[in-house]
Amino acid sequence: MKHFLDIHKTDPDDLRRMIDDAGRMKQARLGRPRGAPDDDLPLADRVVALIFEKPSTRTRVSFDVGVRQMGGQTMALSGSDMQLGHGETIADTARVLSRYVDLIMIRTFDETVLTEMADYADVPVINGLTDRTHPCQIMADIMTYEEHRGPIAGKKVVWTGDGNNVCASFLHAAGQFGFDMTFTGPAQLDPEREFIELARSKGSRIEIERNAEKAVQGADLVVADTWVSMHDGQSSRERRHNMLRPYQVNAHLMSHAKPDALFMHCLPAHREEEATSEIMDGPNSVIFDEAENRLHAQKAIMRWCLGL
Ligand code: CP
Repeated sequence: MKHFLDIHKTDPDDLRRMIDDAGRMKQARLGRPRGAPDDDLPLADRVVALIFEKPSTRTRVSFDVGVRQMGGQTMALSGSDMQLGHGETIADTARVLSRYVDLIMIRTFDETVLTEMADYADVPVINGLTDRTHPCQIMADIMTYEEHRGPIAGKKVVWTGDGNNVCASFLHAAGQFGFDMTFTGPAQLDPEREFIELARSKGSRIEIERNAEKAVQGADLVVADTWVSMHDGQSSRERRHNMLRPYQVNAHLMSHAKPDALFMHCLPAHREEEATSEIMDGPNSVIFDEAENRLHAQKAIMRWCLGL
């Protein structure tokens, strides 16, 4: 069973094949309407369950469109509408769904829900985000970097702000794809030690630098993510804003990076907070390519999961 649960749990050769496969599929579709089917229809006669226990725009739409392009069908399920949200165990849910569908993508809060789903499902399970990691996003980001600048191996990525779940998957990717990473943000929001040590153990240079200007020196890629989640209350938002303000990605900060450094943000963004519109809409920003590449990267992930 090939689950796609996290980048560090997936063989680097397989990750590389998925990125290459995604690029090949993207090229093959150039100029076609979004809804046109791919030439081969690897998901013909297959059904994919898309389970969302949290809101989503990109993940929901890109998985749905990707499955359709590959000739399959999707079923979008919200956690609260399922018996899963009313006491049925994850194990039973996984075993039941495995009798109906060929693949399960789940976005959930606690990563143990994901891992338990994978333990009990007889079909592949894909991590569509948990509170700890977001591997599909980072596969799209690696693809995007390499489309614009070539191999990411040996490059310097700077993560600004909150060492959150997306940052964690970037750290996993550093170890698997062989790039270096600097985190710049307040100490309260450092990434988990475990993610840092794992990347270091694979040979990546991982640094923490509290001074944002120093951190971005020599950066090939600068990444920002939202400072607040929709669940944060007003006082929490203010506290986080005060803590994170020195880490905003703006023209001044980007002037310390390499002149051709790319800017990424997985979206959704709070413009003028974690990054200014000048940077988000500027010539070095690839934020909408990242969003598009969710589609292509996830198609490659689904093919890999199903051995297609
Ligand atoms: N980046 C991302 O996962 O977007 P959504 O939350 O809209 O799916």
